[in-house]
Amino acid sequence: MTAEGSPAGSPAIRFDGTSVVYPNGVKGLDAVDLEVPRGELVVVVGLSGAGKSTLLRAVNGLVRITGGDVVVDGRSVRASHGAGLRDLRASVGMIFQDYRLVRRLSVLQNVLVGRVARVPTWRQLAGLWPKEDVALALDSLDRVGLADRAYVKAGQLSGGQQQRVGIARALAQKPAVILADEPVASLDPVTSRQVMDDLQRINRDLGITTLVNLHFLDLAKEYAERIIGLSQGRVVFDGAGAGVTADDFAEIYGRHPTAEDVLEAQVAL
Ligand SMILES: Nc1ncnc2c1ncn2[C@@H]1O[C@H](COP(=O)(O)OP(=O)(O)O)[C@@H](O)[C@H]1O
Ligand SMILES: [Mg+2]
Repeated sequence: MTAEGSPAGSPAIRFDGTSVVYPNGVKGLDAVDLEVPRGELVVVVGLSGAGKSTLLRAVNGLVRITGGDVVVDGRSVRASHGAGLRDLRASVGMIFQDYRLVRRLSVLQNVLVGRVARVPTWRQLAGLWPKEDVALALDSLDRVGLADRAYVKAGQLSGGQQQRVGIARALAQKPAVILADEPVASLDPVTSRQVMDDLQRINRDLGITTLVNLHFLDLAKEYAERIIGLSQGRVVFDGAGAGVTADDFAEIYGRHPTAEDVLEAQVAL
């Protein structure tokens, strides 16, 4: 057993008949069964509205699970409340399409936000971050190649750099799991690859289980160890990234891929 009380061989994330029905009756997830082993990098693809964001948000309890459960690192999301839920969220780093940085704060301060769950509020307010936390934040920035920008205002960075700060902030949580919800949707092709390279390197170097929602099929194929296809809240494809064909994508999307579905239209699938 690990310190957290989970069996060492258990998956990092287990979706166990997970359903999410939103208050307005819309089904976000429909009885999803899925196991993600520790250290895997999984890319989730599907049309807009397929349930990709809902799948990720179910992992850290940002949406209410209405059927089944999600078990993260041996802990039931559905049974987690209050301090237990905060603890679970502290072990799950989240990366967003729109970065969600505080633009007027320094890059370093933004990364230190990743330590919030673990440092008392009065110390944060006083700017009294423990030395170890500052060192960890700087190390996290170093892993995305931005250690030299630590004292620049976040708002002054380019989009790609801001997203890499978002990755460093997630890393500073020392997460068991990283969730990235369309992290490159606002970026150009070259920058998209840099951000995906960072996510891949961190996954490989630190063994952090990573779930990435992506729209672009060529990127998915390039970076995914495993691709999960979602349609109408259900898993309709689950296979190795490298082996995915245009026909597989057609099945997931319910239509053949178009130029809009690839990052660089000249790249053949
Ligand atoms: N907060 C919400 N309230 C009601 N319906 C929602 C909410 N969020 C998402 N949905 C619906 O749930 C389904 C899945 O959405 P989502 O997980 O955002 O898909 P994706 O990320 O693949 O685009 C869609 O039909 C969407 O309209
Ligand atoms: Mg989404």
